Amino acid sequence: MASCRHAGLLLGALAVAISAAGFWKASVSEASGLGSSPSEGMADGSFSALPPAPPPAPVVQSCHGPRLILHVGPGKTGTSALQDFLVQKATWLEEEWGIGVGFRQSKAAAYDLAIPLCEENRVEKDKCEPKQDAEKVTESVQYIKSKLQKRSLVVVSSEEFARPTFTSTSWQCFKSLVGSGACFSVVVVHRNAAAWMASVWAETSKLHSAPRSFESFTALFAGQRGADLQGDSDPQLQILNKLNEEFPGRVDAVSYDYLEEVDSSLSAFFICNATLRLTGEPWHRCKESVPSLKTVNKSPLHAAIDVVRLARIYYTARRAVLNGTGPCQPWPVVDLRKRGIHSNPSGVLIAYNNPAVAELAKQLPQKCETLDGLFESETQTWFARTGAQRPRSGSKPVCTVDITAMTPEHWQLLGGLVPKCYQ
Ligand SMILES: *[C@@H]1O[C@H](CO)[C@@H](O)[C@H](O)[C@H]1NC(C)=O
Ligand SMILES: *[C@@H]1O[C@H](CO)[C@@H](O)[C@H](O)[C@H]1NC(C)=O
Repeated sequence: MASCRHAGLLLGALAVAISAAGFWKASVSEASGLGSSPSEGMADGSFSALPPAPPPAPVVQSCHGPRLILHVGPGKTGTSALQDFLVQKATWLEEEWGIGVGFRQSKAAAYDLAIPLCEENRVEKDKCEPKQDAEKVTESVQYIKSKLQKRSLVVVSSEEFARPTFTSTSWQCFKSLVGSGACFSVVVVHRNAAAWMASVWAETSKLHSAPRSFESFTALFAGQRGADLQGDSDPQLQILNKLNEEFPGRVDAVSYDYLEEVDSSLSAFFICNATLRLTGEPWHRCKESVPSLKTVNKSPLHAAIDVVRLARIYYTARRAVLNGTGPCQPWPVVDLRKRGIHSNPSGVLIAYNNPAVAELAKQLPQKCETLDGLFESETQTWFARTGAQRPRSGSKPVCTVDITAMTPEHWQLLGGLVPKCYQ
C-alpha cells in the first residue's frame, strides 16, 4: 500500500484527476476496451502481417489518434540493438521523421513498465496495481503520453512484453494506463527456433555458475509448456497468438533470419516498414539512412557454458573423493544476471567474459547438431499465420561439448581450470 500511496502523490502532482488507489485497483473488466482501438493503415496490403488464423478477428474499426507502435521482442531477436538505436537516435528520429521515442534508456520500458505489470509483480491477478515500482510505471506512462501529445507516431520497445507472464490482464492494464486516445499496433520478431533457444540458453547461462545443459534447458523452456487456447505449445506461436488476440489485425511480424539474409536491420524494418509504412523509393531512402548497428549483446560460445557446467561436476566429484578432509565448500551457485551487473566480485567461475573458459571451450571436443527438423511444423504455422517472409536457409548447427569424446588429456585441461577450493 505504501507504494500505492506514493503513486497517488505523483499522480496528484501530475494533475491526473483520479486517485491512485482507485487508479491501480481498477479491475480490468472496467478497464478493458479502453485504448484498444485499432490503428489505421493495416488494411492497405503493404505489410507483411495478414489477418490471424481463425477464429476471425473482430471487425477492425478505424482509429484517428496518434499511433503507438510497440516492439515486443521477444528477447534474443535483436532487441538490444534496436533499443540502443532508438535511444541514441531519438533526436534524429524526431527531427527527421517525426517519430517520438517513448522511453529514455535501452531497458527502461522493460524494467520500469513491462516487468512491473507482469502477473507475478502485480498485487492481484485481475488488477493493475504493481507490488513495486508503481511510481516508475506511472512515470513511464506519463512519458509515453507526453510524446503522444506532441507526435503522431510514438515507438516503445521492450522484450518483456513477450514474457509468458505479461498476460492479457497486463495488456489491459497497459492499454488503460496509456488511454483510449492512442492507436496501438505491435511488432513481433520470429527467430529460427533452434538458434533462438540456443541463444536464450546462452544468455541465461553465461552469468550463472551452475548452468544447465542445452538439452535440459530446451526441455524446460519449450517442452513443459501447456498448450494455449489455440492448442499451441510452441513459445513463439504462443506469443503470436496472444498478440493477435490483444491487437487483432494490428500485428506486424518479421523474421530475424530473413532480415539477416536480405542484409537489413531490425531498426530499418521497425522504422521504415512498421512505423512509417513506407514503400518504393521513400522506403529505400529511409532504409539507407537507418544505420545498421552491430549486435551489442554477443553471446559466448555455447561450449564455454559447458566448460563451466563440467568444471562444477569436476569440482563436486573431487570434493566427494576427498570426502570433506579439506575445508572446501560446495561449488557456489550464483546468478549474476541483474540489471547492469557484469562484474564478478567473488571470483566464482562463470562463462561471461572469461578468456580462460573461452580458450578451453575451443580445445574440448564438440558435437554439433542441427535441430531445425524438430520445429518445422511450428515454424510453418508461424509463417502461415503471419504471412511474413520466410528465410531460405535453416539455422547453423548448435555445438556443445561432447563429454563422451573427452580424453584424459581433455579432463586434465579441464582440471587445470577448476578452482582448487572454495572456502
Ligand atoms: C519493407 O518494406 C519494403 C517496401 O515496401 C518491402 O520491399 C520489404 O519487403 C519490407 N520488409 C519486410 C521484412 O517485410
Ligand atoms: C567419509 O565420510 C563418511 C561420512 O561423512 C565417513 O563415514 C567416512 O568414514 C569418511 N571416509 C574417510 C576416508 O574419511
